[in-house]
Amino acid sequence: MGIGQFLTMKAHIRTYGCQMNERDSEAVGALLANAGFEIVTDETVADVVIVNTCSVRAKAEDKALGKLHNLAASKHAHPARIIGVIGCMARRTGAELFEKVKGLDFVIGPRRLSVLPAVIESIRNGGGAVLDIIGKADEPANLSGHINTGIASFVTVVEGCSRGCTYCVVPEARGPETSRPATDIIEEIRTLVSAGVKEVTLLGQSVTSYGRKAGIGLEHRQSPLGLEEQFPRLLEGVATVPGLRRIRFASSHPSGVTVELARAMSSLPAICNHIHLPLQSGSDRILGLMRRGYSADEYREAVSRLRTAVPHLAITTDIIVGFPTETEADFDATRRLMEEIQFDNAYVFKYSPRPRTTAARWVDDVPPETKALRNQLLLEDLDRVGLSINQRLVGRDVEVLVEGESLRNRTRWSGRTSSGKIVIVEPVDGMSGPGMITVRIERAMPQTLYGTITGREKERA
Ligand code: SAH
Ligand code: SF4
Ligand code: F3S
Repeated sequence: MGIGQFLTMKAHIRTYGCQMNERDSEAVGALLANAGFEIVTDETVADVVIVNTCSVRAKAEDKALGKLHNLAASKHAHPARIIGVIGCMARRTGAELFEKVKGLDFVIGPRRLSVLPAVIESIRNGGGAVLDIIGKADEPANLSGHINTGIASFVTVVEGCSRGCTYCVVPEARGPETSRPATDIIEEIRTLVSAGVKEVTLLGQSVTSYGRKAGIGLEHRQSPLGLEEQFPRLLEGVATVPGLRRIRFASSHPSGVTVELARAMSSLPAICNHIHLPLQSGSDRILGLMRRGYSADEYREAVSRLRTAVPHLAITTDIIVGFPTETEADFDATRRLMEEIQFDNAYVFKYSPRPRTTAARWVDDVPPETKALRNQLLLEDLDRVGLSINQRLVGRDVEVLVEGESLRNRTRWSGRTSSGKIVIVEPVDGMSGPGMITVRIERAMPQTLYGTITGREKERA
C-alpha cells in the first residue's frame, strides 16, 4: 500500500477520552494521510468517520455511543460513508458494537491501529464489516507518525496497563503493559524537534513503569547521571535531543517515584516543573480496596522525595469520590491529605462501576447526591488552594511556551509555564507565532494566569 491509494477520500477522526487517545488519533491521522487521505475537521464532508472511544466511566461510553448512533443515521444521506470505532470501547465491547450500532463498518482495537488503511480498503471493495481488536501478541503498536505538529507534542512510551486497580477498565480495554523501544522514542522526538516541536509529553498509564517488563535498549547506553532505573534513564536519553526545550510525562504511579526519578527531575533542566501523580483516595482502607499498591504515608513519602529534590514542583492528581463503602471518615482523610499536600490542581471523578472489574461486584452504595457533594467540596478546596499558589506568581517574570490562540478569545495567546499553568497574554507587535516568551504575571485565577509579555526569545539559527 502506498501514498495515493486513497486520493480524493476524506477522513474525519472524532476523539473522546484521555491524552493516550488524542495521541492515537494523531497517529491514525498520519497513517491515513500517508495513504492519501485528506484529514478533515468538518465531519459532514467525510467519506470515512472514525470515532476514538473511551470506556473509563459509563458517561464516556454513552457519549461515544450517542455520536455513533447519529453517524449511523447519517448513512441515509451518505450511503457510501464508512463508519468505524477505535479506542478503548473497541476492545472492551467488541462485536457487541455491531449490534448496538447498525451500519457500523469496523471495530479496531487500540493496539491494532496499523491495520486501518488495509481495513478501509477492504470495506471499500465490498469486503464487509471488520472486527480486529486483539493481535496475536500484545506488542506495542509503536506508531510514530504525527500530523499538524504544533509546538508541543505527545509521544507514547508505554502502551496498556497491567496494574489491575479494582475499579478500572483500562487493563481490559488496552491490554497488558508494554514499553516501546527507547531508540524508537528518541528517534520520533528528534523528528518532531526538527519539525519545530519544543515540548514533548511522554505518555503511558504508568510512565514510571517504563521498561520494567523487558529491556528496551537502554542497557548498553552510558548514564552520565549514574542512573540504573529504566524510566529515569529514558528521561536522560530524551533530554539529549538537541533543541528540545521541555519534557513532560504522565501519568506517574507513586511506586515509581524513586530517588532516581527525583534526581533525574532535579538534574535535567528540560524536565518540566510538574508531575501528575494520581492519589485516588487518602484513606488507607479505600486505597487497599482499590488495590492501588500504596498507603497514604507512602504517597506522602513520594511527594516529599520529589519536593526535596525540586522545591517548587507543581503537583496535580486524580481523585475518585464515592468508591464503594467510602464513609464520611474516608472522605475526610482524602480531604485532609489534599489540604496537607496542596495540589496545584486535580481531576475529581465520581465513582462509576465498570462491567467485569472487581469493584463492580461490590454494591455501589454511596448515593449519587453524596458523590456530587463530595465532588463539589473537593472542587471548592482545589480552587482556594490553586488560587493561593497562583497568587504567589503575581509580579514575577515566568517563562511561557505559547502554544497558540486562546480558545476563549482568539485575539489573545495562550501558553503554559513549566509548572503546567495556563497563561493568557495580549500579543505584542512582531509576534509571529508560537514560541518561548517571558511574561510578567499580573493577575491570578484558580486555574489561569494573566500577564504582559516582557521578553521574546530570539530564534536560534
Ligand atoms: N493510569 C492512570 C489513570 C488512568 S484513568 C493512573 O492510574 O494514574 C484516569 C482516571 O480516571 C483515574 O486516575 C481515576 O481517577 C479515574 N477513573 C478510572 N476508573 C474510574 C471509575 N471506574 N470511576 C471513576 N473514575 C475512574
Ligand atoms: Fe487503571 Fe490503575 Fe492502570 Fe491507572 S494504573 S490505568 S487506574 S489499572
Ligand atoms: Fe478512556 Fe481509554 Fe484513556 S478508557 S481514559 S481513553 S485509556
